[in-house]
Amino acid sequence: MSYVEARGLSRIYTAGDTKIQALDSVDFTIEDGQLTIILGPSGSGKSTTLNILGGIDSATSGSLTVGGQDICQLKEKGLTDYRRTQVGFVFQFYNLIPNLTALENVELTAGLSNDPLAPALLLDSVGLADRFRNFPSQLSGGEQQRVSIARALAKNPRLLLCDEPTGALDSETGKKVLIVLASMAKLNHKAVVIVTHNAAIAPAADRVIHVRDGHILKIEDNPTPVDMESISW
Ligand SMILES: Nc1ncnc2c1ncn2[C@@H]1O[C@H](COP(=O)(O)OP(=O)(O)OP(=O)(O)O)[C@@H](O)[C@H]1O
Ligand SMILES: [Mg+2]
Repeated sequence: MSYVEARGLSRIYTAGDTKIQALDSVDFTIEDGQLTIILGPSGSGKSTTLNILGGIDSATSGSLTVGGQDICQLKEKGLTDYRRTQVGFVFQFYNLIPNLTALENVELTAGLSNDPLAPALLLDSVGLADRFRNFPSQLSGGEQQRVSIARALAKNPRLLLCDEPTGALDSETGKKVLIVLASMAKLNHKAVVIVTHNAAIAPAADRVIHVRDGHILKIEDNPTPVDMESISW
């Protein structure tokens, strides 16, 4: 059994009289120890998929199991536990806590875990060793994005969900961050999912799920992913 199994997953948003089918009965699986990329243009349903995987949003229909647990059947308390203990989330728009420093933002999530990674080392690994004491408003967009990545890693989660983690980063810094994320899959045997519209990083993934208009176009498995070091865009 795969770590994540989604079957017939749909999400319909209702705004007044209009219904938006953000996801239309998609099937996919995600494995432990692998880097999976969800690739598609703007509006294709990438964040919707990630939010459902992370227990932040719920599917309108379909089933989703993570580590054998049926996420769609969980009540509020079960979902809270799931989000707290299993999922690390890098949000597309960072969502840092403005009145906590970079280090405090990372420490906060480390405190939720029984097996956290060291916040200072993580900030160092994303190139922010000298910015521990800065508040988010004193950091550039790309720096805030890197704090949010360190924050997600701090929990040492089994499932790491990253929504456009390099969106605000230049190619060189983005690559550094992707190397850290890929190593979480390879060295720490986590399931790492990266959502992006940047096709250049797809060759480094074990699996690429191509999405468009709420549908999966194709799923590619890559038995010999290239080293993240050799990627550029
Ligand atoms: N809360 C919501 N209410 C109504 N429509 C929504 C909501 N969230 C997303 N949608 C719609 O669902 C579709 C998929 O959105 P989603 O955010 O998943 O796209 P995306 O692939 O992440 O795009 P981007 O690359 O721009 O972030 C879009 O048409 C979007 O407008
Ligand atoms: Mg999105």
